[in-house]
Amino acid sequence: MDKLDEIRTRLDACDDEIIELLTRRMGIIEEIIEYKKESGTPILQPKQEQKQEEALEQKLDGQRYEEEIKDIFRYIVSNSKRIQAKNLFKHNILLIGFMGCGKSTVSSFLCKMLAMDSVEMDAVIVEREGMSINDIFAKYGEEYFRNLETNLLIELSQKNQLVVSCGGGAALREINVQHMKNNGRVVLLTAAPETILERVKDNDDRPLLRGNKNVEFIGDLMEKRRAKYEAAADIVISTDHKSVLEICQEMIGKLMEMDA
Ligand code: S3P
Repeated sequence: MDKLDEIRTRLDACDDEIIELLTRRMGIIEEIIEYKKESGTPILQPKQEQKQEEALEQKLDGQRYEEEIKDIFRYIVSNSKRIQAKNLFKHNILLIGFMGCGKSTVSSFLCKMLAMDSVEMDAVIVEREGMSINDIFAKYGEEYFRNLETNLLIELSQKNQLVVSCGGGAALREINVQHMKNNGRVVLLTAAPETILERVKDNDDRPLLRGNKNVEFIGDLMEKRRAKYEAAADIVISTDHKSVLEICQEMIGKLMEMDA
């Protein structure tokens, strides 16, 4: 064996050890998630995550390959989160509800905590059409926009373990709800009109609220939509006076109950 072969053999042995260790580590992740499920311990623990990050910082401080190892750990942690998400959810999670009920906020928090992929329906439509929602409504009308939503939901129903933040009107069409339920759990987020107004007041991207940013209009439109939202929902979560962590925790609990 020449020198290079000998070095490569040692490298190969290192890879075997890494694989063995990673397999062990991922098994421990499964153990943690099973324990949390059985004991009713909150699944999302951002403080613990923070602690773990700090501990790692300390362990690696001054290490020769500090940056590189930190980078690898980002992948390890992200994959651990994916393992947890796979263990928890077999389906897509579709967030529905009125404009400003918190769909995007909840979606991005959940995706960060569980390394799930997220889809923001409005954003996908805007990107594909190359124009804002306001411009789509103005140029082609609402019906056209609603058809784009239906087509996108058909596409998403072919995928798994996505968190989909649906446009506020997406659940109003019967056919859309069928596509949502095809491969997903539908979570309705609710909030009082006053809360909604507070959340949407500085944003001008919603054509239906232009010139209508007041509690009466919001309350009326919510009431008109309520029956359809509720009929579509597998789970309902009120978001008033709750942190995004509390909302996500409640949602995960209810989704787990559904699949128990
Ligand atoms: C709409 C809600 C908006 C967007 C469009 C129409 C609606 O989405 O799809 O302005 O009919 O409620 P958000 O609920 O994400 O703001």
